[in-house]
Parts: sequence; structure tokens; C-alpha cells
Amino acid sequence: MRNKKVLNTVIQGNCIDVLKSLPKNSVDLIFADPPYFLQLENELWRPNQSKVKTVDDKWDKFKDYQEYDQFTLDWLTAAQKVLKETGTIWVIGTYHNIYRVGSIMQDLGYWFLNDVVWIKNNPMPNFRGVRFTNAHETLIWAKKNKEAKYTFNHHDVKALNENLQMRSDWSFWALSLANGKERIKSKSNGLRSHSTQKPESLLYRVILSSSKVGDVILDPFFGTGTTGAVAKKLGRNWIGIEKNKNYIRIAKKRIANIKPIDTNYLKIEKLKEPRIPFGTLIECGLLESGDKLLLGKKPKFAAEILTNGNLIYRKKIGSIHQIATFIKKAPSNGWDHWYYLDKQKSELRLIDELRNKIRQKIKKYPEEK
Ligand SMILES: C[S@@+](CC[C@H](N)C(=O)[O-])C[C@H]1O[C@@H](n2cnc3c(N)ncnc32)[C@H](O)[C@@H]1O
Repeated sequence: MRNKKVLNTVIQGNCIDVLKSLPKNSVDLIFADPPYFLQLENELWRPNQSKVKTVDDKWDKFKDYQEYDQFTLDWLTAAQKVLKETGTIWVIGTYHNIYRVGSIMQDLGYWFLNDVVWIKNNPMPNFRGVRFTNAHETLIWAKKNKEAKYTFNHHDVKALNENLQMRSDWSFWALSLANGKERIKSKSNGLRSHSTQKPESLLYRVILSSSKVGDVILDPFFGTGTTGAVAKKLGRNWIGIEKNKNYIRIAKKRIANIKPIDTNYLKIEKLKEPRIPFGTLIECGLLESGDKLLLGKKPKFAAEILTNGNLIYRKKIGSIHQIATFIKKAPSNGWDHWYYLDKQKSELRLIDELRNKIRQKIKKYPEEK
């Protein structure tokens, strides 16, 4: 970011104007929680005659869809300019707005990576019983354009989910934002300070998965500053934009009280194993050219090893990965699929075991420096 002054601050104003004033290609990640345009016409009452506090804020009011769409087009256009080529954007919304937002994003050239469903464990019931309880919000995750490279911390996200790939349906069971101590309330009347404060756990997953330590994360609808709070905790820089002075005051106070996580704990790189090309197994004599490998132990998928480490399968020649991908018709890592015959034990074993043998040797006799 060339304009360092704006880092880790909240800028007051209309996000469309502010975004236009920021340097182009300067932000790594945007998290946006725009107005929903809920259009609630009637007051909502519980069966016990108490009134339901909904989102009836002025900032959520628009004249009609045309005005809402123009607003959406304007802020998304300005946001696209400040995003780096490698940057991505998350936009959260409900059925009231997310389809309009999504369609405008696609028209602008944003390229969708996922839509994530945030399942609420404490949704507000549909008191009148006239439709299903609305129990989720949708997040669109997109990159700036189709060709761009982007950050996805696959290993961190997998680790967060006990080494299983994280799915696109998210629920945070421990959390009950409506009553939890995370909810910011006014000291004078005990009422919630903001009608749509988002849970920190949601932002934790967003930021951990799609940004790096030291990245710049921007939130154009900052509200109570949930994005800034979690970004600071996780060692990222942040920029907030918000129109409402009272929300800004609340956000600043909240973020000032956040203690960043010790940098030692932010280093979560995976232990890197030395790279061993398949050809090394032949050079070391663990396999020989002419030996057969079976994909998934199946004799009908037998390939033979060539002297250079490539495989030949029905006249097709390629690496262990290329031939596996060709047979499985899906991107495949050959180390996970090819089996060789262990002649001593007369059993089929995964070639990855031979790679591990070499890795163990390397650890035992490291290269002299
Ligand atoms: C859905 S809320 C965001 C809540 C926030 N994610 C949180 O956790 O507190 C939308 C926020 O955007 C602000 N806002 C609405 N229109 C805006 C605009 N044009 N420019 C800047 N802020 C705006 C509102 O004041 C409101 O605080």
C-alpha cells in the first residue's frame, strides 16, 4: 500500500467516494457486508406480544431495486479498482440482496471461487409461521478476474478442520452472537449497538483462509469493525470505511482493545518435505524401467515405467501424474494412486512408500553444507 497513512484506520464517508480516492491495485482482500435492502414493511411481533428488533436502519433503505442496483454497481466497480490483481473479495448477504449483488459482480468480471453458506445456530424464528425459518446467510468469494492467481491457505484451513477439507457450509456451534459477550451493547440502555454485527468466528475463517500475515484487508461497510478486530488479531493490516460516526467510535474502541496474536503463533507454514521426483526412484534402483505400476491396484490400469521416469499406458506417455489424470479423468497426484509389486512380500504397495524411504535416508544423511 503506497498510502501508508490509511492503514489500520477507519475512514469516515461514503465508501464509493472513499474507494475512488484510494490507490489502485493496493488491497489484498476485501470483506464487504453491504446493506441488505430488507424492505420490511410491517412491524414484527412475537407470540408473547413483544416487538422483534429487526434491521430497520436508515442505511438499509433504498427507493427501489434500481437505486439499490446502481449503488451496488458503483461500490463494486470502485472496489475492483483498489483490489490487487491477486486480490479476492468476500461479499455477504441474504436472499434479499445476494442474487442481485452476485449478478452485478459477474457482469463486472469478478470470477467466483465459492459461495459459502453460513448456517446460523440461533436464527430468529418465523413468528407468523408463513414460511421457513431463515437460518443462513450467503457469502460469495470471488477473485478480481478469471486469470488472476490468489491466496487460498489450503493447509491452514484443512488443519482448522481436523485435517479434513473444509466444506462450503459453515456453522459455528459455540457461538450465539445475539446474546453472547461479543455483542456490543449501549451502556446507557443495554440495547445492541448495531443491528447486524457479524461474529468474529466468521471473519476468522475468512481472513485465515484467504490472506497472508501482513496483507491489507479492506471493509467498505465497517459497522462495529468486526473485520478490523479480527485482522488485527491475525497480524494483518486493515482499512475500514463507514458513514456513521457513532459506529466508527464503537469500532475504534473495540479494535484498540484487541491484542494481536504473538507472531510466533502466526507462522503456520507446513513442514516442507524435500521434493523427490519419481525418476529418483529409478535412479536409486528402487524401481526399474519395464516394471509395471497399477493404478488403484487394478490390473486393467497397468502402465510400464520408462528409463526417464515417465510411464507408458496404451501408447500414451506421461508423468505419473499425467497418466493418472488421463485414466481417472480428474486432476490426480500420481503418488497417491500408483502401486508397485513388492517382490519380497508379494504384495502391492503404494509408490509413495518408496518416496518416503528416500526422504528418511535424506534426513539420516543430510547434505553437507
Ligand atoms: C451490514 S452493516 C455491516 C456490519 C459490520 N459487518 C459489523 O460486523 O459490524 C452495513 C454498514 O454499512 C454502513 N454503510 C451503509 N452504506 C454505506 C456507504 N455508502 N458507505 C459507507 N458505509 C455505509 C452502515 O452504516 C452499516 O454500519
